[in-house]
Amino acid sequence: MPLLLRMGEEQAPMSTTTPDPAEGEPKAAAADEPAPRSPDTSDRSRSGTGYDTMLGRVLVERGFVSAEELQECLAALAASGSPGTLPEKLMQEQLVTERQLQRVRSDLDTDRASQHIPGYRIIKKLGAGAMATVYLAKQVSLDRLVAIKLLPRKFSTDAKFIERFYKEGRAAARFNDQNIVGAYDVGQAGDQHYFVMEYVDGETVHDRIAKSGRLEEGDAIEIVRQVASALQHAHEQGFIHRDIKPKNIMMSKAGVAKLADLGLARALTDREAAEAEAGKAYGTPYYISPEQIRGLREIGPAADLYGLGATFYHMVTGRVPFSGKTPNEVMNRHLKAPLTPPDHVNPKLSPGTAQVIEMLMAKDPSDRYRDAGQLLEDLALVARGESPSHAGHPADLAAVAATIAATTPAEPTEIRQHSGGAPVGLIAFLVVSLLLNVILLVVTLVMASG
Ligand SMILES: Nc1ncnc2c1ncn2[C@@H]1O[C@H](COP(=O)(O)OP(=O)(O)O)[C@@H](O)[C@H]1O
Ligand SMILES: [Mg+2]
Repeated sequence: MPLLLRMGEEQAPMSTTTPDPAEGEPKAAAADEPAPRSPDTSDRSRSGTGYDTMLGRVLVERGFVSAEELQECLAALAASGSPGTLPEKLMQEQLVTERQLQRVRSDLDTDRASQHIPGYRIIKKLGAGAMATVYLAKQVSLDRLVAIKLLPRKFSTDAKFIERFYKEGRAAARFNDQNIVGAYDVGQAGDQHYFVMEYVDGETVHDRIAKSGRLEEGDAIEIVRQVASALQHAHEQGFIHRDIKPKNIMMSKAGVAKLADLGLARALTDREAAEAEAGKAYGTPYYISPEQIRGLREIGPAADLYGLGATFYHMVTGRVPFSGKTPNEVMNRHLKAPLTPPDHVNPKLSPGTAQVIEMLMAKDPSDRYRDAGQLLEDLALVARGESPSHAGHPADLAAVAATIAATTPAEPTEIRQHSGGAPVGLIAFLVVSLLLNVILLVVTLVMASG
């Protein structure tokens, strides 16, 4: 149904052919999407032969109208000598809907704006996310291919955001890590701001999952290892990514995983950004950490570990960790629902990998890995078929106490449901108390005998 797809989604298989990540999740039904914001320029000012020719060409390219239908409309317009425009005629003939026209116009406006980035020649559109559009371009001076992210005009008016955008862009440009998409340039063309980065000729992890449903465990471990290494570097420099997800991990043709969008300042809060993606099949907040949902001020490296854990989960099970009918439902589950252990979804998964994922996705940031370095240690072990050394251990006393404290009457079922068995915290607590009692007894006996 090419008529219903938006530009940038045309080649994306996930909109129509892939299993939905979450059962019952509303799919990207373009017909139900809100119409894109109307572009700044008025319809009238955009009409005219040049614009109409371009519009006509795109409508034919996208299969909205046939070349013959277009010709007939143009001929009828010329013959009548009326002041009507091509879009008006096309709608009058019921060949296109208002909504379809709006979409094509909005894409054309972005395309036209992007033609004027000094020093770069735009080649084609690579994709579009909820917030921006990414183009493949040639950097003329260095004769190299780059990817350019063009921000929507509406952000131009937010002075604070623009300041952050440049500051973070400059800082990101200092990175030199093969697992991080290089940041090259930030700038402004007309009233639009752009971010120039390394072009990755490959696919995203999202595309891979969409293609194969689930990844081989070994492949997934290797991807997570490379992203963990990127995060270790970024976190050491004080950068938190905040949006780790399959679409932000690009795979080069040589099999190198590259983390995209690091150092790209965000105009919205994490929760708003996640909600803005709602309605796109894979876009709802499937990978956001509980602390970001809560809107905590101090978001640390642990939030990226959670996003990486959720991405890992999706890769090895073919399912997102939490699904729901609305973004709010998904977010509530991140906050409160127990995680279905990944090896229950994919019984072929090794227990070691399942333990690593569960540790990454602990609801409380302090229960996750201390840093990406610890995660790398565990990944090296599970890649060799050994047990992880940080994940999967019975909780220590402090954690047990915290778990018990958290077992308020309001949420008793959640604790019981964890891993589908008895309350883990309580059992660990009893075991530890038993051990302490035995030690106490032995010490008393020894002292008594002495
Ligand atoms: N550096 C890059 N090289 C090649 N393609 C890219 C690059 N960055 C982004 N893309 C493509 O553009 C798409 C849109 O990117 P983006 O606007 O960041 O939204 P999202 O990350 O939500 O998909 C990505 O899904 C990817 O396919
Ligand atoms: Mg991105």
